Amino acid sequence: MKPKIIVTGGTGYIGSHTIIELIRSGEFEAVAVDNCVRSTPETIGRIKEITGICVKHHAVDICDKKAFFAMIEQEAPIAGIIHFAAYKCVPESVEKPLMYYRNNLGSLENVLEACEKYHIPQLIFSSSASVYGDVKELPVTEATPFGKPFCPYAHTKQIGEQMIHFFAEQHPDFQSVILRYFNPVGNDMSGLNGELSPDKPNNLMPIVTQVAIGKMKQLTVFGTDYDTRDGSCIRDYIHVCDIADAHVKALQFLMNGKNESNCETFNLGSGNGVSVLEIIDAFEKVNGIKLNYIIGGRRPGDVPAIYSNSGRANELLGWHCRYTINDMVESAWKWEQHLLKSKQAE
Ligand code: WQD
Repeated sequence: MKPKIIVTGGTGYIGSHTIIELIRSGEFEAVAVDNCVRSTPETIGRIKEITGICVKHHAVDICDKKAFFAMIEQEAPIAGIIHFAAYKCVPESVEKPLMYYRNNLGSLENVLEACEKYHIPQLIFSSSASVYGDVKELPVTEATPFGKPFCPYAHTKQIGEQMIHFFAEQHPDFQSVILRYFNPVGNDMSGLNGELSPDKPNNLMPIVTQVAIGKMKQLTVFGTDYDTRDGSCIRDYIHVCDIADAHVKALQFLMNGKNESNCETFNLGSGNGVSVLEIIDAFEKVNGIKLNYIIGGRRPGDVPAIYSNSGRANELLGWHCRYTINDMVESAWKWEQHLLKSKQAE
């Protein structure tokens, strides 16, 4: 019997890619738990199309403790939980802070209580480079302290990490890994699974592909007057399949007892900073498409540059990025085209 892993947010962008990697590893049974308020149950079919496996899906709200615990009891014994389920839209978190605190922290509280009540020994927590805020010293390492959170979303990730730290201190048999993602982009190279952006996406890559396919008229580059090599903001873009692979390696790291403390933290980034204009250039070159964009003003809250030093994950998890910026822009475009074809077939 393979160790059973509960993947909350399992029909979401990173959750579904992680389920695919868990299946590809051949070592785990993955179970998706997701109320699909920000995703769709059709993702389960896409996972099956790619892996041949139809994973079990519980359409449960993690904040609904009674329903969540009933699901846990039904699925026991459980070897670990990978907790992705959270809202992650930065501007929305500014408009609706309480919705973010209630959902992101309430769900984590139920996950931790389930680990305690049902003796679930491992937890992998989806965190974000946004916990660092506006860092001056680059590259960022795990020792870089939390910065002033630039939005409630980032604040929920800081508080979430601290909740896990204090819980781990009281539960020595509980083992956890916190993974801080930089900028996840791209999709499964098959082009058959990807991010279902909201009608009006906020993140760069989905906007680039929606402009390229004509769903959006024009891309605005938010500022080219920053103190960077080409004036546009620099980020550490990382392929979503590399992020997913890190979750499998983090589970193996805990199961093989390689962790020193029972709450370990790792940065997941490529270690390379890439600018907005360089992303546009790569997208145009790799996909042979001219993008319609203009240069606009700065977006409030943007930091000029942030990128990671992922040496700790390389060394302790044996995790390395396999995909390049070209793979990211190619797979992002393939997915956007797949979405259009699926819509036309409806
Ligand atoms: C990247 C760069 C924009 C759109 C956010 C969250 C982070 C994580 C990833 C959840 C910036 C520029 C963007 C556009 C642009 N989310 N841009 N025109 O802001 O680095 O990170 O998403 O985990 O927590 O903070 O990502 O993709 O929004 O922006 O010029 O139309 O692209 O200014 O420099 P960001 P992003």
